Amino acid sequence: MIKVGIVGGTGYTGIELIRLLHAHPQVEITAITSRSEEGRSLSELVPSFFALSDLKFQKPSVEVLSECELIFFATPNGTAMKMAAQLLEAGKRVIDLAADFRIKDIDTWQQWYGETHACPDLVAEAVYGLPELNRAEIKKARLIANPGCYPTSVILGFLPLLENQLVDPKRLIADTKSGVSGAGRGASVGALHSEVSENFKAYGIGGHRHLPEISAILSSVLPAEQAQLTFVPHLLPINRGIHATLYAFANNDVNDLTALYRERYADEAFVSILDAGMHPETRAVRATNHCVISVNRVSKEQIVVLSVIDNLVKGAAGQAIQNMNIMYDIPESLGIEAIGLLP
Ligand SMILES: NC(=O)c1ccc[n+]([C@@H]2O[C@H](COP(=O)([O-])OP(=O)(O)OC[C@H]3O[C@@H](n4cnc5c(N)ncnc54)[C@H](OP(=O)(O)O)[C@@H]3O)[C@@H](O)[C@H]2O)c1
Repeated sequence: MIKVGIVGGTGYTGIELIRLLHAHPQVEITAITSRSEEGRSLSELVPSFFALSDLKFQKPSVEVLSECELIFFATPNGTAMKMAAQLLEAGKRVIDLAADFRIKDIDTWQQWYGETHACPDLVAEAVYGLPELNRAEIKKARLIANPGCYPTSVILGFLPLLENQLVDPKRLIADTKSGVSGAGRGASVGALHSEVSENFKAYGIGGHRHLPEISAILSSVLPAEQAQLTFVPHLLPINRGIHATLYAFANNDVNDLTALYRERYADEAFVSILDAGMHPETRAVRATNHCVISVNRVSKEQIVVLSVIDNLVKGAAGQAIQNMNIMYDIPESLGIEAIGLLP
C-alpha cells in the first residue's frame, strides 16, 4: 500500500483526491490537513464520508506528513514550494496540484504569480505531469507539477496538430469555459449562486495565469518557433466541467485529422476521439478522468477542435492519481476508471 498525505483536504480538489484515493486498492490515506478545520473529522465536514472514514484534519507540517511516502498538495499557489524541499530531502515524493513547479522560467513564474519563488532549484527537476506527453519522465520523478485544468484541455486538444506541424503555431485560439468549482471552495461574491446562475461571461481577457503554462508546453513540442495563443476563459453556470473550443489555421492538406488524432492517442486510456462533426459535452466526462475530443476541418484553412474534461478530475485530482499510478508502476487506470454520470 502507498501511504499518502493530502495537504489542503477541505478544498474541492483535496476532497476529490480523498474521494478517489479512499477507493483506490493500493493506497492508504495516512494524513489529511487543514489549518482552519484542525481536529475536525472528515465525515463531519464532508457528508459523503459519513460512517466511511475516521480520518481527522491535522495542521499541515513536515512532522504530520512524516508517515507518508507521497504527498499531494491541493493548496493555493505558493504553498507547496515552501515545504517541498524538506519533504524531498526526507525521501518523500510530491505531486503539486498548484502552479509552483509548472513553469520552468522563474522570471516568467514570478511575473505571473506575483511572488518570489521559494525553491527555484527544484523547478528544473520537476516533471510536468501530463502523462500523454511525459510518461517516461513521470515514472522516475520525485516531484510532479500537475497541469492546470484549462491547460490539460487545451494542450491535449492542440497536441497532434502541433507535433505534426500541421497548423500555424502563431495563430492559435483557445476559447475556453469552466464550471464554478474551477475557482475553488473559498467564499467569494463572484462564485455565489445568484451571481453565476442565469449568467455567462468571459474573464481574464487581459491575461490569465494559464497562458504562459499552455504556451510553454505547446512550444516545447515545436522544432524551433514559439507557439502564440489567444486564450479567453469564460465562467459557466455549472459546477464541474471545462469545454475548450480551439481554433487553428491549417498549413497543409491533411484531411483525415480524426485518424491522425486516433493514432496519436491510440494507447491513451483517458483520451477519446469522436467522429468529426460530433460534439463532446461536459456531462459525458463529469466525475471522470476522461478527455473527449472531436477535430473538425470546417474549411480549407480552418480547423476547430472541441475538447472537454472535468476540471476536478482530469484537470486536477484524477490526473494527479494517474501520475501516482505511473510513478509507482501500478496500472495507470487503477482507481480512476469511472464513466460519466447521467443525468
Ligand atoms: N478547482 C479546480 O478545478 C482546480 C483544477 C486544477 C488545479 N487546481 C489548483 O489546485 C489547488 C487547489 O484548488 P482548490 O480548488 O481545491 O482550492 P480550495 O477549494 O480553495 O482549497 C484550498 C485548500 O488548501 C488549504 N490551504 C489554503 N492555504 C493553505 C496554506 N497556506 N497551507 C496549507 N494549506 C492551505 C485550504 O484549507 P485551510 O485553509 O483550512 O488550510 C483548503 O483545504 C489550487 O492551486 C488550484 O489552482 C484547481
